[in-house]
Amino acid sequence: MENTDAIIKLENIQKTYHKKEKELNVLKNLNVEFYSGQLYAIMGHSGNGKSTLIHILGLIDQFDDGEYHIYSQNVKNLNDKESSYIRMKNIGFVFQEFNLVPTLKAYENVMVPMLINDEIKPKERKIKAIELLSIVGLKDRINHFPKELSGGEQQRVALARALANNPNIILADEPTGNLDEKSEKDIFLLLKELAQNGKCVIVVSHSSEIKKYADKVYILDNGKLEGEN
Ligand SMILES: Nc1ncnc2c1ncn2[C@@H]1O[C@H](COP(=O)(O)OP(=O)(O)OP(=O)(O)O)[C@@H](O)[C@H]1O
Ligand SMILES: [Mg+2]
Repeated sequence: MENTDAIIKLENIQKTYHKKEKELNVLKNLNVEFYSGQLYAIMGHSGNGKSTLIHILGLIDQFDDGEYHIYSQNVKNLNDKESSYIRMKNIGFVFQEFNLVPTLKAYENVMVPMLINDEIKPKERKIKAIELLSIVGLKDRINHFPKELSGGEQQRVALARALANNPNIILADEPTGNLDEKSEKDIFLLLKELAQNGKCVIVVSHSSEIKKYADKVYILDNGKLEGEN
């Protein structure tokens, strides 16, 4: 059987924020495994730690205790350079607020992650960026600046950018938070297609629409993930 190995494995992950004299235990002995070819939804009330979790998964934030293995590699002992390399090779991140560079055109925004990837030759970068924008349905918007694009279009540029280095893992933190129903559906369909093409896609969402697309729904509650189906 193929794909029996989890590509992401979290064991007893703990994360506490310290603010003045208060301690906030956001993640408490959280255990979960994620596999390729699956679309996962992570839901739960505001403030329950969903962004904290997805930032830890994306090697953007640190955890306090527990084990995180990505492709069987323990990330705990990696230095910044090593974790940046793992992130660049394996992970595409889609932020709720798009985080596009306003002074760069759509295709230039998509090229940004490629600039640190030696495996993509400089002259291939623009071609690849245009290909990715075509995949997300923006072939005729490649020269637009972010402010010349609708919210849904900006989020699709952000998704194309997340795919720039052909990562196997796509992490999206409320990728449709600011979008109307039609744009939301477009994004969920694209994410679903990526999972069907073999990627591991993890989406934090408040929208119950995601349940129609997800292979597995988790609820983050009291510091732990509970499977809903
Ligand atoms: N850097 C920080 N320092 C202290 N507390 C923090 C920090 N970041 C987040 N928190 C707190 O940790 C809790 C979890 O935050 P997080 O952003 O992960 O929640 P969330 O589930 O993503 O919420 P939302 O659905 O509103 O985006 C919140 O109560 C938040 O106030
Ligand atoms: Mg959040």
